Amino acid sequence: MRKKLVCLCNLVTEIELMEALKKGASSTGDIQKITSAGTTCGRCLPEIDALVENYKKNSGNDQFKLSF
Ligand code: FES
Repeated sequence: MRKKLVCLCNLVTEIELMEALKKGASSTGDIQKITSAGTTCGRCLPEIDALVENYKKNSGNDQFKLSF
C-alpha cells in the first residue's frame, strides 16, 4: 500500500486511514475521531469518504467493531 498523505493538515496517510477501517471505523466521523484526518480544513473529506465507501464495498462488513 502507498504511503500517500491524504490529510495534509494533520499529516495522516492512507495507510493510517486503512488501519482505522480495519480496526472497526465505519464512517468518516469514526475516521476523524481516531486519526484527526479531516478535522481542520476539510479538503480531504471527499477522499476519506471514498476510502470508507470502497472499504465497505470490498470488505462486505458494515458492522461496527469498536465503540467510540
Ligand atoms: S487536508 Fe485534511 S483537514 Fe485539511
